[in-house]
Amino acid sequence: MDPSRLSRFTYKKPPPVVLIFVVVCFVALLGVSSNTWSKLASNKTKPNVYGIEVVNEFPHDHRAFTQGLLYAGNNKLYESTGLYGRSSVRRVALETGEVEEIKTMEHAYFGEGLTLLGERLFQVTWLKKTGFIYDRNNFSKVCASPFSAEIFIYIIPLQVQEFTHQMKDGWGLASDGKVLFGSDGTSTLYQIDPQTLKVTRQHIVKYKGHQIRYLNELEFINGEVWANVWQTDCIARISHENGMVLGWILLPHLREGLVAAGNHAIDVLNGIAWDGEKKRLFVTGKLWPKLYEIKVHPLKKQVDDSLIEQLCISDGRL
Ligand SMILES: *[C@@H]1O[C@H](CO)[C@@H](O)[C@H](O)[C@H]1NC(C)=O
Repeated sequence: MDPSRLSRFTYKKPPPVVLIFVVVCFVALLGVSSNTWSKLASNKTKPNVYGIEVVNEFPHDHRAFTQGLLYAGNNKLYESTGLYGRSSVRRVALETGEVEEIKTMEHAYFGEGLTLLGERLFQVTWLKKTGFIYDRNNFSKVCASPFSAEIFIYIIPLQVQEFTHQMKDGWGLASDGKVLFGSDGTSTLYQIDPQTLKVTRQHIVKYKGHQIRYLNELEFINGEVWANVWQTDCIARISHENGMVLGWILLPHLREGLVAAGNHAIDVLNGIAWDGEKKRLFVTGKLWPKLYEIKVHPLKKQVDDSLIEQLCISDGRL
């Protein structure tokens, strides 16, 4: 190539239109990359953390070892309680805490997660793969069978009033109205077909490289699954699409407040119920004398990941 041509080309002054175009592109590129970088950086240092505000307090049976909680409309809650000999399914009046109807369980069973799908309450039990389905109106056990109840009674004279699930244990249950979500104390969030009671999908719940173990009571809220993490004062907001933790809700003040008020026998925070109609969120705990209506707000103060690890993630704690 003729060097004089090259130098002529190299030093040729570009027309103003080209210059403007280059400047515009450069600015756009800077904008995109700084946006991306700030997003990456904020992901690293600023998790989605929420605090709470208590807007109402209601009485709660302090003998109820709460393992499952849900709101069923009309100011009624359904609750499943644990402990051998004290396990039950109950319907509770929200405002008075009064137990309106109760089904006590056989002493061999330790009640765990509970959810409502249509007219049916689904309950799982601790250390067993056995679950029960109840009619929500009278707590009579519903035959768990893929066949219609009638056919089933003719085929097998003894009516089977329980089901066997495929999780490792029975801890939490929730429903979006179509499937059941289940937890078993590991980091797995299960999806279960309510007809066959078979696991259809499962995801490991993760937060930045940590597997979140001890997933306990579950609630389906606005497309997310919210989970109590056992032995912590944290609720994880989980994507059921991929198991990612979308945010953390910190509630240490509730338990601490109860203990400071002299309730030394209380156990952990457990129990989330959502009133989708009035957008009311309720939480309680095992043997707590109170049930709280709360509102969740993003924390203004920046929270480090190390604090989340310390408060909410039970790695090696037990
Ligand atoms: C419970 O209620 C359902 C209807 O909701 C009814 O079909 C069933 O027979 C009732 N069971 C008992 C034991 O009363």
